[in-house]
Amino acid sequence: MIGKDIYYAAQCLREGKLVSIPTETVYGLAANAFDLDAVLSIFHAKNRPTFNPLIVHCANVSQINDFVTHFSPNAKKLAAAFMPGPLTLLLPKKPNIHDLITAGSEKVAIRIPNHALTLELLQNIDFPLTAPSANPFGYISPTSAKHVAAQLGDKIPYILDGGECSVGIESTIVGFTEADKVQVYRLGGLSVEDLEKVVGNVEILSHSDDKPATPGRLLSHYAPKTPFYLGNITDLFAQYADKKVGILAFSQLFEGVVKENQIILSGQGSVTEAARNLFAALRSLDALNVEVILAEFVPNEGLGKAINDRLRRAAA
Ligand code: TXA
Ligand code: MG
Repeated sequence: MIGKDIYYAAQCLREGKLVSIPTETVYGLAANAFDLDAVLSIFHAKNRPTFNPLIVHCANVSQINDFVTHFSPNAKKLAAAFMPGPLTLLLPKKPNIHDLITAGSEKVAIRIPNHALTLELLQNIDFPLTAPSANPFGYISPTSAKHVAAQLGDKIPYILDGGECSVGIESTIVGFTEADKVQVYRLGGLSVEDLEKVVGNVEILSHSDDKPATPGRLLSHYAPKTPFYLGNITDLFAQYADKKVGILAFSQLFEGVVKENQIILSGQGSVTEAARNLFAALRSLDALNVEVILAEFVPNEGLGKAINDRLRRAAA
């Protein structure tokens, strides 16, 4: 069922049922973080391996203290600047956060989603919500209630419809070293430039593909079902000339392929707009019945870094 009733959503969650929640980044598949059976059912619904930990979502910064033992100075600065918002903090967990949520790690990932409906929902329950993106494991994240319904509708009692996600790409995940240096574990909806305005230089971790520090970093992720190639579209097109081709372009149509089989991420060349359109574009291209999808990188600035990261993973 799809609707906008936060009281019904709250009731489902209290009863240990799953609810898909809108956020500014992507839709989540939420359960009461303190109800282990409910948390387990998230892994089943998504077909997600339990070694992949989950983000805890709460309503405000002061609540975070209920779940973590230590809030470093830089973590506090980032929380003050960007929460609610597309930022997830990795902080040392209290025992009330179960190992199933952190996959055995001593650190819990916490975020406050910046979406009016979900914030209101969080204020109406007395437990935090743990939620991965509401897609089958490995597939493209959903940025509308319709996307969620299309793939997990039969497994989720209620989808809270909050419209289309305004940011469109998952949250930026940051952790902190012993010396409180900020490390980016996942590029996402908050740009590195914005982080650096508040805490100075940050380190962007790049992980080996077989043993990622954050399992969502598995190289093959966010993948459409159609073979997906990334690079210079003219070169790729020459290579796949004999195939029925779909194009994912940044700001301009590619000559030589019919318009109907092309999607432009941002006609005005904005990486922020491109981020908002990215996952819906991948889904649309995947539904086109083309044999291959050819895509190009976007400018590597602002949210462009996170877009290029997702494109690489879609192509892996
Ligand atoms: O924007 C978002 O972050 C969305 C919305 C729904 O909040 N959530 C999301 O969740 O993208 P998910 O599960 O699809 O991705 C969360 C990532 C995973 O790659 C997971 O490995 C990492 O966060 N993660 C979660 N807890 C962690 C922990 N304790 N240590 C390291 N990585 C963690
Ligand atoms: Mg995900």
